Amino acid sequence: MKRIGVLTSGGDAPGMNCAIRAVVRKAIFFGLDVTGIQRGYSGLINGELREMNLSSVADIIHRGGTILRTARSETFRTPEGRAKAAEHLREMGVEGLVIIGGDGSFRGARLLSNEHGIKFIGVPGTIDNDIPCTDYCIGFDTAVNNVVDAINKIRDTATSHERTYVVEVMGRNSGFIALEAGLAGGAESILIPEMKTNLDDVIEKLYRGLQRGKLHSIIVVAEGAGSGIDVGNVIKEKTGLDTRVTILGHIQRGGTPTSFDRVIASRMGAMAVDLLIEGKDRKMVGVVSGELKDFDIDYALSREKTIDKSVYELAGILAI
Ligand code: F6P
Repeated sequence: MKRIGVLTSGGDAPGMNCAIRAVVRKAIFFGLDVTGIQRGYSGLINGELREMNLSSVADIIHRGGTILRTARSETFRTPEGRAKAAEHLREMGVEGLVIIGGDGSFRGARLLSNEHGIKFIGVPGTIDNDIPCTDYCIGFDTAVNNVVDAINKIRDTATSHERTYVVEVMGRNSGFIALEAGLAGGAESILIPEMKTNLDDVIEKLYRGLQRGKLHSIIVVAEGAGSGIDVGNVIKEKTGLDTRVTILGHIQRGGTPTSFDRVIASRMGAMAVDLLIEGKDRKMVGVVSGELKDFDIDYALSREKTIDKSVYELAGILAI
């Protein structure tokens, strides 16, 4: 193998830059050339490719987002779009790709592999942390810390005004951010798509808290479990309590990556290069109980990642 390519795709995640840096520097360490693909699959189709060197990834370890930019490409969903993408890779002499992104990005890479034989290794990067076969996806720790930071601030004003706050967090189809940040932020209730929650139970808990003198309540809602505004409206209507809703939105995805994200992203990016050099293909890097492993992409994409129910129950018990 002489040349590899690297791209980021889907929603950006803090730590992606550390992974790019690791891919580029580890590959150069082994004497490979590296092509950086701008704007994910969209840039691949448009031929937005550039040569990467040691300096291309200097001074990015602390920066959120992705220096390669990212996109969600509709054209790549078409066979014509993928044919164009493969053509650009062949022209550049790229023999293997490192895809940093979520499961949608890996599904795209798999199609490129099926139809055009492009080798690839996936590196899980999404704040949602919802990719199977890995305990951890790049960006999750930073996003959770962003949410906890916001909850701390909301708590100050919630206590001062003796209000109930509904905080809606990201997680398109999953409750990992909500669960982790809800536990760390001491939320009274956590609503996630993986667990059915009856709003009457949430309200009962609110009343119990008020009876024992609680000055405020915080309810964390994963966007995949429903709208924070709807939850807030129901609580307001049924209880008459002074209730406010905060939708944290994209603020969760930004900011300097935590050291945890930096380290795991560096390790995962470097391992992706090792796998390509070993001749591996259609794999995903994952971390299981702290150890890096590789998984067959078909296997990984056929699995479902589940939340740890004991953590959910614990959060409920501690916020009684
Ligand atoms: O990257 C994952 C994610 O942040 C989800 O939690 C969220 O639903 C989605 O991306 C938002 O996507 P976009 O930035 O395209 O609006």
